[in-house]
Amino acid sequence: MHVWAVANQKGGVGKTTSTVCLAGLLGEQGHKVLMVDLDPHGSLTSYFKYDPDDINLSVYDLFMHEGKVPEDLPKDIIVPTCQPGVDLFPASTALATLERKVATQGGMGLVISKSLATLWDQYQYVIIDTPPILGVLMINALAAAQKLLIPVQTEYLAVKGLERMTHTLSMVMQSTKKQLPFTIIPTLYDRRTHASLNALKKIRELYGEQVFAECIPVDTRFRDASESGEMPSQSDPDGRGVRVYRHLLNALLKTASAA
Ligand SMILES: Nc1ncnc2c1ncn2[C@@H]1O[C@H](COP(=O)(O)OP(=O)(O)OP(=O)(O)O)[C@@H](O)[C@H]1O
Ligand SMILES: [Mg+2]
Repeated sequence: MHVWAVANQKGGVGKTTSTVCLAGLLGEQGHKVLMVDLDPHGSLTSYFKYDPDDINLSVYDLFMHEGKVPEDLPKDIIVPTCQPGVDLFPASTALATLERKVATQGGMGLVISKSLATLWDQYQYVIIDTPPILGVLMINALAAAQKLLIPVQTEYLAVKGLERMTHTLSMVMQSTKKQLPFTIIPTLYDRRTHASLNALKKIRELYGEQVFAECIPVDTRFRDASESGEMPSQSDPDGRGVRVYRHLLNALLKTASAA
């Protein structure tokens, strides 16, 4: 099982879109894939037409057992998506209360790792979508992941946000004594604007090899796909955005098989 987390403390940079698109493409290749929605807003959950305000079982339930995870609970939480072979751990808006509830309990950082361990032979790839805040959910994602994907919108303020994210990552790596390789994915790129060109140049200067060689372009088809609830790889397989995600996936799979 390969576990990737998609994270950036800045909102609206393409985390959920990257999760859906990569999961769809992996599914298309015949892999069994699990997406995990750790965002209390539940955008990923809503994408597949489940209601995070009214969901029976969700990742929230995994956190309700004082850091232990009942053996059968993770598999009971799984719901299917529109694509066979691609499943989802849905979020519930109750996740927003988690921080307050579990702040004083120890051992809450490994709940997702423990849950995934019970599904080890059922999925080849797990992609975790995270909220744009540093808290117990982000810590769980970083602890469970073997690789971090950081989408970054190609604009000035996003570059600042990226510095915050990589700082968070190095703090977490120090405290967990775990190395977590990361790939930065430039997103929402518009080559007609100076803001995009300048931001991309800066990101490459700062992070060199850790930046994916291409940029995900602005492509309104992603918004259309999210409305219809289809995977972008299904609704627009040859679209310019999906094409770059396909290249990204190939690059990630190469490093995953080398690891
Ligand atoms: N490459 C793109 N081109 C055009 N629109 C995009 C692209 N990527 C994402 N979007 C749109 O931008 C909005 C934000 O994207 P997304 O939800 O993936 O970001 P996010 O980082 O998950 O946001 P949040 O931090 O709020 O969870 C969505 O409406 C999405 O459809
Ligand atoms: Mg999101």
